[in-house]
Amino acid sequence: MSTVSEHGALKGANEQAPMLVDQHGRHIDYVRLSVTDRCDFRCVYCMSEEMTFLPRKQVLSLEEIYQVAKSFTELGVNKLRLTGGEPLVRKNVMSLIEKIGKLPGLKELLLTTNGSQLEKLAVPLKEAGVTRINISLDSLNAESFHRMTRTGKLEKVQRGIEAAVAAGFDAIRLNTVILRGRNEHEILDLLEYALGLGINIAYIEEMPLGEVSDHERGDTMVSNEEVMAVINERYPLTPIEMTTAGPSRYYRVESHGSKVGFISPVSHNFCDTCNRVRLTVEGRLLLCLGNEHSMDLRKVLRENPGNDEVLKEHIIKAMDLKPLRHYFYDKDEPQLVRFMNMTGG
Ligand code: 5AD
Ligand code: SF4
Repeated sequence: MSTVSEHGALKGANEQAPMLVDQHGRHIDYVRLSVTDRCDFRCVYCMSEEMTFLPRKQVLSLEEIYQVAKSFTELGVNKLRLTGGEPLVRKNVMSLIEKIGKLPGLKELLLTTNGSQLEKLAVPLKEAGVTRINISLDSLNAESFHRMTRTGKLEKVQRGIEAAVAAGFDAIRLNTVILRGRNEHEILDLLEYALGLGINIAYIEEMPLGEVSDHERGDTMVSNEEVMAVINERYPLTPIEMTTAGPSRYYRVESHGSKVGFISPVSHNFCDTCNRVRLTVEGRLLLCLGNEHSMDLRKVLRENPGNDEVLKEHIIKAMDLKPLRHYFYDKDEPQLVRFMNMTGG
């Protein structure tokens, strides 16, 4: 293979050399693929009560998603995460996951889910090659869980979490968004639930993605500093050195196996080690969660059906569009109108 871009995006046939490198020298080896914008929940920080979802022809087919996944792995990506919306509500999604699970070069296949389908799908997912799962859980009180998700049933999700624990994934992490006035009093209960199951938990700061109907973002965001202070009073946290690039910092609760993560996209800038890009379900390759820089891969896929080489050339070129950093809550920068379900958590 030849060198395609001045910035050395395609370095040659040597499998060791990173093939996707952006203008700031960051190696892209992690891709998050959104497989649907739909969801059976309507979490207050993620969606409005009334949502209009995309018409089917604007959405990539399962075959198209597979082609993108395959091309990325051929370009040196070894970690894929399937997201949504809720990935497991997409029709026939297991057939896609089974195919992706067999891609050579893939070291980790991750899934982010709301847990509503896990009771029946945990075992098939494990068998398909999913290595780790993140499950959203914001409350252990059935009523407040229902209020935060607007439609979710806590018991069903808890049965799903237990099924995932039994299925024996390499790791399971609960994702918790703490919102002022809703679940800030549940910080410790949620931690203890994770400790009891021997799984990990990450507290995620609310991100300003899209206008939501129920609250002003600035009023509800609880900083991770605040969450950490609450935990530290009861469970002293020891920092863990982790090599994974990203917006999270991990700690261990002394005397427990569980890890506690803090994901702070707003108050911390993790951009210099960013190793990831995202594909929306419309086939837009987003180079940064907090920016609109993107490339329309759906157009490439549909104008060149089945042509992996053309697709790969475009992916390589797209790396040059990756911006240096995001500007959440920066008053001088345009703010995002994209919802999380359109972005791919
Ligand atoms: N801010 C922070 N987290 C969010 N999620 C969805 N929308 C937002 C937001 N605006 C979370 C979900 C899920 C993860 C993928 O992202 O709770 O756990
Ligand atoms: Fe669905 Fe996840 Fe958004 Fe909740 S946060 S509405 S579960 S996509």
